[in-house]
Amino acid sequence: MVEHQDAADNLNPFSDIRSSNTTMNYQKQSGFDMGFEKDAGFQDSGKKASSESFERKASNNIVPIKGPIGLDIGTANIVVAHNSSNDIKTHMQLNAFFTIPYSSITGKTLSNDGVLFFHKNEDLYILGDSAENFANMFGGNTRRPIEKGILNPKENESISVIKAIINKLITKPQKKNERICFSIPGNPIDGPASVVFHESIIKRHLINMGYVAESINEGLAVILSELSGSNFTGIGISMGAGMCNVCFAYLSVPIIAYSVQKGGDYIDAMVGNSVNEPPTKIKVIKEQDLDLSVEPKNLIETGLHIYYDDLFSTLSQSLQKVLGSSDNVPRLSKAIPLVLSGGTVLPRGVKKQFIKALKNIRLPVKISDILIAEKPLNATAKGALVMAASEEADM
Ligand SMILES: Nc1ncnc2c1ncn2[C@@H]1O[C@H](COP(=O)(O)OP(=O)(O)O)[C@@H](O)[C@H]1O
Ligand SMILES: [Mg+2]
Repeated sequence: MVEHQDAADNLNPFSDIRSSNTTMNYQKQSGFDMGFEKDAGFQDSGKKASSESFERKASNNIVPIKGPIGLDIGTANIVVAHNSSNDIKTHMQLNAFFTIPYSSITGKTLSNDGVLFFHKNEDLYILGDSAENFANMFGGNTRRPIEKGILNPKENESISVIKAIINKLITKPQKKNERICFSIPGNPIDGPASVVFHESIIKRHLINMGYVAESINEGLAVILSELSGSNFTGIGISMGAGMCNVCFAYLSVPIIAYSVQKGGDYIDAMVGNSVNEPPTKIKVIKEQDLDLSVEPKNLIETGLHIYYDDLFSTLSQSLQKVLGSSDNVPRLSKAIPLVLSGGTVLPRGVKKQFIKALKNIRLPVKISDILIAEKPLNATAKGALVMAASEEADM
């Protein structure tokens, strides 16, 4: 498909089990029992029916993931990375939910089908990848527990949903002192939001599960995943759905980290607005057809080019502003690499367009090369795993 992806497929030991078969196996083997913890907000009646059947299914197939673990909690996706037979394996679930009215028969049917859900009040909350299938069938949209990178205060159940999806991807630790490192955004420079609440909620949940948990800035995780060649000195940018995370690190020490609350969702919404089409339609076209290296063929593609340019211009301006005004940037004689990651960098032509945007700004450091992460959807989780593994080795 895309040039850098094809190349990466040959090089990278990652395996992504998003494909339907393997995902189904994984659903069954993951620790469903933990998806129904007390504070996840289940009503007794629903909880009993659903959790019992999940446990039954799960008990046949549990193959727990062994720590250390890297966990990427993004607006669109939650990704787990762990070591398995000298390989790094990743597993992904959509960070989404969809509600349907509760009935006993539907609850039982969903349990039998291995769908992850919980029951609260009058609703069944369908979680993760299954949420999208249901949304498509019912002609609605999935909802998100995270908005623009941070726990969504507009969704009452966002905390329960995110905990349940995490519990679907990872089991309780097998031994004492197992480490998990989870990604958090930098504070946004373009909004009042703070990551403190978001970080604490996730950390407490992971500690309650039994892990030794610590957070890592998402941009730094990308650097740990991709820039070992420059001794973890460089700029990492993760362009996701809800935001872009930027980190400048020197020898693995984060010197500057921040986020911009624009990303793939912003592109979908703005193009949709401009051409009077739903963002969901724009997203599909963007993910399937967009090639930024060729002239747009129609109005939607034109809009996608315009808003990609807008995003790259916002990002490069932010780099100039933040790095340029910081006293912390060390004087480096050598040029440093800049690596781009996240789902939003997947279209062909991203690198060229980003270089164009960088030509319009001045930075206090020289950039040697612009790189695209080998697996843009997995790099954050892999970097978090690198951090967790390094800490565990020290213990
Ligand atoms: N092939 C693609 N082309 C363009 N955008 C893509 C592609 N695949 C995924 N995306 C976009 O990437 C974003 C999700 O990337 P991800 O890094 O997982 O985000 P997050 O970290 O916010 O969960 C979404 O906005 C999605 O539309
Ligand atoms: Mg991300």
